[in-house]
Amino acid sequence: MMEKSLRKIFRETFESQNNERAFYAPGRVNLIGEHTDYNGGHVFPCALNIGTYAIAENRQDRLFRVTSLNFKEIGIIEFSLDDLSYNKEHDWANYPKGVIKEFADKGIAINQGMNILYYGNIPNGAGLSSSASIELVTAVLVNELSRAGVDMIEMVKMSQHAENEYIGVKSGIMDQFAIGLGKDESAVLLNCQTLEYHYSPLELDDAVLVIANTNKRRTLADSKYNERRSECDRALLQLQSVLEIQSLGDLSKEEFLKHQHLITNETDRKRAKHAVYENLRTLKAVQLLKEGNVAGFGQLMNESHESLRYDYEVTGKELDSMVEASWKEPGVIGSRMTGAGFGGCTVSIVKKDYVSSFLENAGKAYEAETNLTPDFYVVEVGNGAREIFDI
Ligand code: GLA
Repeated sequence: MMEKSLRKIFRETFESQNNERAFYAPGRVNLIGEHTDYNGGHVFPCALNIGTYAIAENRQDRLFRVTSLNFKEIGIIEFSLDDLSYNKEHDWANYPKGVIKEFADKGIAINQGMNILYYGNIPNGAGLSSSASIELVTAVLVNELSRAGVDMIEMVKMSQHAENEYIGVKSGIMDQFAIGLGKDESAVLLNCQTLEYHYSPLELDDAVLVIANTNKRRTLADSKYNERRSECDRALLQLQSVLEIQSLGDLSKEEFLKHQHLITNETDRKRAKHAVYENLRTLKAVQLLKEGNVAGFGQLMNESHESLRYDYEVTGKELDSMVEASWKEPGVIGSRMTGAGFGGCTVSIVKKDYVSSFLENAGKAYEAETNLTPDFYVVEVGNGAREIFDI
């Protein structure tokens, strides 16, 4: 396995001895609660058993020398602690650099540079948060190697801040949180307004999680994402003319129905409706799962997809085809798009006995509709970002 030889590759690349340490941050999949995080609602994601590995050691000077096996052709990228500004030429390395700058901006003393080798097995740009995974693995390794003592929630916030301000994607806190605080065999219910969270054991009886990558790249994702944020912000502002609320996540269905006329633009109203209903749906879904009602949970996943398709309009032909193909298969308990949308992945709960027929039939049906070949991952839920000792 690739991971097994990472230390060896590290030593060869940086001509180093044996002082390196190994770190890992997972990718994430969101089960329900989509486009609710920046609306002050709840999300219910989990950390995956695929992610980003980083092997690292301190240097004696102030240089960072970083390389990624996923971008071998780019080679080693070098920058100094004395200039951590964004540099287009540094390509993917701006992600770790943005996080290192967060430490520096907080006045956390990093006195030495580092050599870092990255390797990730999360499909890139598929909406499983490869970028947040790189951010968190970097935060944890910098924190450990410089003995900074920053706690995980703080590193989650710093990583989100780097993504928002340094990279320029105005994402909410879900991805970094799930990756930082994910727990084996559990999903995490997070209130994105207060950051209160609870783990919920992911007991799916005789079923598993299957992720389908539509292999439609999320090209418009960033601009459309920011557009949805502004639509919701406008709706909130109009509701606030009468209601004392901090976010759309504060509203019940009844309150929304009573006051929705305040939102003058019809599109904004639909977006707000999704944000309110999806938040309530998430709370209900988690409750059903607790009661052992996996079928009920799956039904709400399906409803979540419909809402993202018709009210939030972030699905598109590929995600809709994959979800429709999945719904038709026996043994599928629930299926929906996951992540920001506009391409990327779906997540389904599929009974174990039906997984192979599901992969075969849903794959074929999707391919016939779109001319794209999907990739499937039967995933397990793992722990959050951490140092690892077994590689
Ligand atoms: C992206 C963002 C998250 C969240 C989802 C949609 O993954 O990074 O913060 O908003 O989209 O639920």
